[in-house]
Amino acid sequence: MAYSRIIGTGSYLPDKVLSNRDLETFVDTSDEWIFERTGIRSRHIAADDQVSSDLALPACQRALDAAGIGTDAVDLIVVATSTPDMIFPSTASLLQAKLGITQGAAFDIQAVCSGFVYALATADKFIASGQSKCALVVGAETFSRILDWSDRRTCVLFGDGAGAVVLKAGDEPGVMSTHLHSDGRYSSILRTPGTIAQGKVVGNPFVEMEGQSVFKMAVRVLAQVTREALAQHGLRGENIDWMVPHQANVRIIDTTAEKLGLRSDQVVRTVQHHGNTSAASIPLALDAAVRDGRIQPGHLVLMEAVGGGLTWGAALVRW
Ligand code: ACO
Repeated sequence: MAYSRIIGTGSYLPDKVLSNRDLETFVDTSDEWIFERTGIRSRHIAADDQVSSDLALPACQRALDAAGIGTDAVDLIVVATSTPDMIFPSTASLLQAKLGITQGAAFDIQAVCSGFVYALATADKFIASGQSKCALVVGAETFSRILDWSDRRTCVLFGDGAGAVVLKAGDEPGVMSTHLHSDGRYSSILRTPGTIAQGKVVGNPFVEMEGQSVFKMAVRVLAQVTREALAQHGLRGENIDWMVPHQANVRIIDTTAEKLGLRSDQVVRTVQHHGNTSAASIPLALDAAVRDGRIQPGHLVLMEAVGGGLTWGAALVRW
C-alpha cells in the first residue's frame, strides 16, 4: 500500500480587502462586536469577474512551484467548494483546463467548511489504493456571492480565498489517518437552501445560520473528532506540533485547543486576516505556517474542521 505525503502548499487571496470598519459603513455592526466574538478583523472579496477556479489557479501554481513539480505529474484534482463556478462542469474540471492539464481525474467535493479535510481524505485513499500518484487537493470559495450583505448575523463572518496542497505517493506517511463524520439531522442550522429550477432561483440563495447552535455543535464534535484522531495513534495533545484548524472563529478554535490541552503557540490562526473562507481556510492557514517556517519537516500536524451538513472531520499528518 502506498502512502500519501504533502510536498507543497500554495494559497491565494483576492486583492480587495473589506475591513470591519468598512462593514460598519453599510451594516449595523462594529469592529469591536465582530472582533470580540469571532477574532476577525478583515476579509478578502473576489472581483466581480473572479470565480472560485480563478482563485484556485494561483494557489495551485504556487503549491506546484513549492513542490518543485510540473503539471504533467498531476493525475488527480479534487476541489472542495460550496461556491462552484457553475452547476456543471465541476470547478475541478474547469481548474484542470486553466492549469493546462488533460490527464487524470478531476471532481468536486461538497462538505462546506469541512470540505478540505474531506478532499484530503479522498485523495489520500486514491493514492493509497494505487489509483493516483500525485494529486492537487484544493479548497476554493467565493462565499461573498452567497451572503446577504444586509444580514449582520452572517455577512461579517465570511470571505473569499483558495488554498492548495500537492499530495504525492511515497513509502511512508504522510497522511497518518483521516476521520470523517456527518449528521444530516442538523442540516437546518447552517445552510444555503436555495436552488435553481425551471430557470428561477427557488428558496433563499443566501447563507442562513443559527449561530449559537452551530457554536455548541462545533465545539462538541471538534473535541470528539480530534480525540478520535489522536487516540488512534496513542497520542495526546502534547505530542502535536501544530493544530491547523478550520478558521471560522477564534473562540471555537481556542475552545478546541483548550480541550486537547494544547498551548496557544501550537495553534495556527489566520482567521483575523481573511474571515471564514470555508473549504479554503485550512490550506490557507497551512500555507501561511509553512511559508513563515513554523511547520517544519517531521512535524506532526492535526487539522480539524466542521461545517454545514453538519459535517466534521480531522486529519493527522506527518510533515
Ligand atoms: N454586529 C452587531 N450585532 C450583532 C451582529 C453583528 N454582526 N450579529 C448579531 N448581532 C446581535 C444580534 O442581533 C443580537 O442582538 P439582540 O440581543 O438585540 O437580539 C446579539 O448580537 C446577540 O446575538 P447572538 O446571535 O446571540 O450572538 P452570539 O454571541 O451567539 O455571537 C456568533 C454570534 C459570532 C455568530 C456566534 O454565535 C458564533 O460564533 N457562532 C458560530 C458560528 C460560526 O462560526 N459559523 C461559521 C460557519 S460554521 C463553521 O465554519 C464552523
